[in-house]
Amino acid sequence: MTVQGQPDFPAEFLFGSATSAYQIEGGVREGGRTPSIWDTFAHTPGKVLAGDTGDVAVDHYHRWREDIDLMSDLGLQVYRFSVSWSRVQPTGRGPAVQQGLDFYRSLVDGLLEKNITPWLTLYHWDLPQELEDAGGWPERATAERFAEYATLVADALGDRVVHWTTLNEPWCSAFLGYASGVHAPGRTDQAASLRAAHHLNLGHGLGVQALRAALPARAKVGVSLNPAVPRAKTDSPGDVDAERRIMALANGVFEGPMLHGAYPADLISDTASITDWSFVQDGDLATAHQPLDALGVNYYSPLLVSTVEGTDEVERRDGHGASEHSPWPGADKVAFHRPTGVPITEMGWPVDPTGMEELLLRLTREAPGLPLYITENGMAAEDKVGLDGTVNDTDRIAYLHGHLGAVRDAMAQGADVRGYFLWSLLDNFEWAYGYSKRFGTVYVDFDSQERTPKASARWYADLIRSRTLPPAE
Ligand code: FCB
Repeated sequence: MTVQGQPDFPAEFLFGSATSAYQIEGGVREGGRTPSIWDTFAHTPGKVLAGDTGDVAVDHYHRWREDIDLMSDLGLQVYRFSVSWSRVQPTGRGPAVQQGLDFYRSLVDGLLEKNITPWLTLYHWDLPQELEDAGGWPERATAERFAEYATLVADALGDRVVHWTTLNEPWCSAFLGYASGVHAPGRTDQAASLRAAHHLNLGHGLGVQALRAALPARAKVGVSLNPAVPRAKTDSPGDVDAERRIMALANGVFEGPMLHGAYPADLISDTASITDWSFVQDGDLATAHQPLDALGVNYYSPLLVSTVEGTDEVERRDGHGASEHSPWPGADKVAFHRPTGVPITEMGWPVDPTGMEELLLRLTREAPGLPLYITENGMAAEDKVGLDGTVNDTDRIAYLHGHLGAVRDAMAQGADVRGYFLWSLLDNFEWAYGYSKRFGTVYVDFDSQERTPKASARWYADLIRSRTLPPAE
């Protein structure tokens, strides 16, 4: 609902766009960088569609100046990017490589010159391979390594970056990486995935402490989660239980420790046949529970769930890629369904902005006083360059219109949302789907690397200028 005569978004609300290192940079062997788990995974036959890799990606490592010009043309106020750990600390241990830090220093300076605020994520899934060889996130030591890496980056960039994010979507790191194996490092061990989840919580807490110790007092520190919005298919007890289980496995597992200092009791009992959680040591939950300045929320789509009875086959349209191994430890009987009557994106994800509003209101109730930022939202579409050279992505405009409207409506009901980052600035390497899924508001020809802003980029620029949602048509 728009209030007559007032803009939809207040003057201080930040509009930006988001990317991540492995998805855009390329330059994987330059400046002393060594492989991360995503380099190894992408080069393993059969793991990524069409054998695509991030070796070149969209060549942002060389074209970052041009990309900043694009952001500036669109009027972006803030830019969310991630640092490649293997670029700044190639083995995941020891001193930083100056060339790696210099790349991010130049990028940040380039942004600041154009009045674009840098928003830095330390970890967007690309663990240095050597740390995976030493056991990866299921090992406690990885959390300690992460805090050391946080200190290196904070020492180098703390004078010019104010906004810091520890982890991006730890759910994907733990459960797609170690349980279903559709993401790097591709392991399929449910017990290991729960250990990974805990060490990500611990790494976040140690990382926040390291950042606070190294950064000036004005720094803002947060984390980006991808909370699920599960909805029971019917009100039968079985379906309601499915919703409860996914709430615990997707949300409580990180929100519990990070926001409240405890794992939910039902998470522990639902996973009791897989682990006894004895890897949680005294003091870990207090460490994970650090005061935060911002909670990053990544939202794309809700999940429609039910419980399967007896030996019926479980349908798993959870949108997280095909694997015979489930990323949901302790939820073997939960089925995921595609709803009818709503558009479905190229990822197979239903378009439903009501999930955004519901999620923001839930987080407002559960973490009162914590400012929220939408750190990712957007859609993959089958974008094509027309004969006139333009890309008319009307479905993406409709998606953005709906979801930004939901953000505005949640704010009107009291949600303290302070910014929105569109995923993504550029078409890029979409993980296991390679280059087959286009999420950008700027089209990239992956052969020539030519960039063409799509219609949605112009629409977004209009919104940023006017602070009021332009029509979707
Ligand atoms: C999120 C990831 C991001 C991108 C979008 C589509 O889960 O954080 O890198 O792949 O999904």
